[in-house]
Amino acid sequence: MIKIAHIVGARPQFIKCAPLLRSFHKYHGVLKSVLIHTGQHYDYLMSEIFFRELGVVAPDYHLGVGSSSQGQQTGQIMEKTEKVLRRIKPAACLVYGDTNSTLGGALAAAKLRIPVIHVEAGLRSYDKRMPEEINRVLTDHLSTLLLCPTENAVSNLKKEGFNQIINEGRLLGLKNSSLKQTLDLNQPQVANVGDVMFDALLFASGLAEKRSSIIARSGLWAKRYAVLTIHRAENADDLEKLEQLLRFAVKAAAGLPLVFPVHPRTAKNLKTLKSKYAYAIRFTDPLGYFDMLKLVHHSALVFTDSGGLQKEAFWLGVRCVTLREQTEWIETIRGGNNVLYRAYRKKHHWPTNQLAYYGDGQAAERIAKIVASYVKRRKK
Ligand code: UD1
Repeated sequence: MIKIAHIVGARPQFIKCAPLLRSFHKYHGVLKSVLIHTGQHYDYLMSEIFFRELGVVAPDYHLGVGSSSQGQQTGQIMEKTEKVLRRIKPAACLVYGDTNSTLGGALAAAKLRIPVIHVEAGLRSYDKRMPEEINRVLTDHLSTLLLCPTENAVSNLKKEGFNQIINEGRLLGLKNSSLKQTLDLNQPQVANVGDVMFDALLFASGLAEKRSSIIARSGLWAKRYAVLTIHRAENADDLEKLEQLLRFAVKAAAGLPLVFPVHPRTAKNLKTLKSKYAYAIRFTDPLGYFDMLKLVHHSALVFTDSGGLQKEAFWLGVRCVTLREQTEWIETIRGGNNVLYRAYRKKHHWPTNQLAYYGDGQAAERIAKIVASYVKRRKK
């Protein structure tokens, strides 16, 4: 059996790996997944709840890295991952998204000459002040198989010199997601497989409707409240910026109560602001995936700096105001129901132009196929 290591560590990665682990399981007898949790996120509500809700098995290795500075956290992830990779000797290493766990894991694997497979490759904000942008760019350039969620992500990689583009960057057909058409396996390969977060949402949204009681237990009325989340370092760590965004959201919500599930990073700075904004904002603990999906689905509007939430709002048909200067998920803006906060107007015109930019909900199936084909061909 071919061992594939999956490296995860932060909340969105637990969600992304769930459909992939299910698809890999279908290749039982061919692919064996080994799950490594770096411990970047560790509270029950930031980690374990997602494993329980999505039926993900407990990690095979838990590295217990925890919080520290950017450099120290990335370094520890690299050091501890290297030890595990030396022991298990996987045929390839899957890393997800843009966190310190992504980069630390990719560095450890690449230096051991284990092929790195990047899920959610090619995204760019073109803002190097964001730690996530540094993580994405470097991870892409360490990877041998770059699995993009959109055509735009493929185009971003072409601009950076990647030229082994499978199927010319169009969504791979499910039947032909093998690597037969590839040219030179010694070069990094780029493919558009669709977005695994969409797979995750299709799997979970029905369950969320049934299992989550968030609306009733919070005494909310459907479409008569808005959701707010802020956790990016550039927003959460700067007290002035954080307050500016709270003021903006309260004003733009125009009387709708705001529900704000607070990320631990933001909690520290919010301490001094909570009572001032309690008249308009309900601050809560972080929510599990089911509660969050249901909360967003029934809301009137979402304010967020999270990448995942921008897309979830888009897929659930809920309007979103993104609390950032730019977004990697430009399709949600083109699609008409996402707008950057500086472009938001009081009587905002929301064109509706929902197109299937993010694949067909079968990204995980494609990834399992392409990974199986890739590792087999490399072995030859
Ligand atoms: C990380 C990712 C970001 C992703 C986000 C998802 C990086 C650079 N950023 O940001 O891309 O969108 O996760 O949530 O990797 N903390 C706790 N308990 C926890 C987790 C974190 O208290 O379970 C605290 C830590 O003490 C730390 C802060 O939250 O002070 C930030 O955590 P960190 O691991 O640096 O990353 P995130 O900000 O969550």
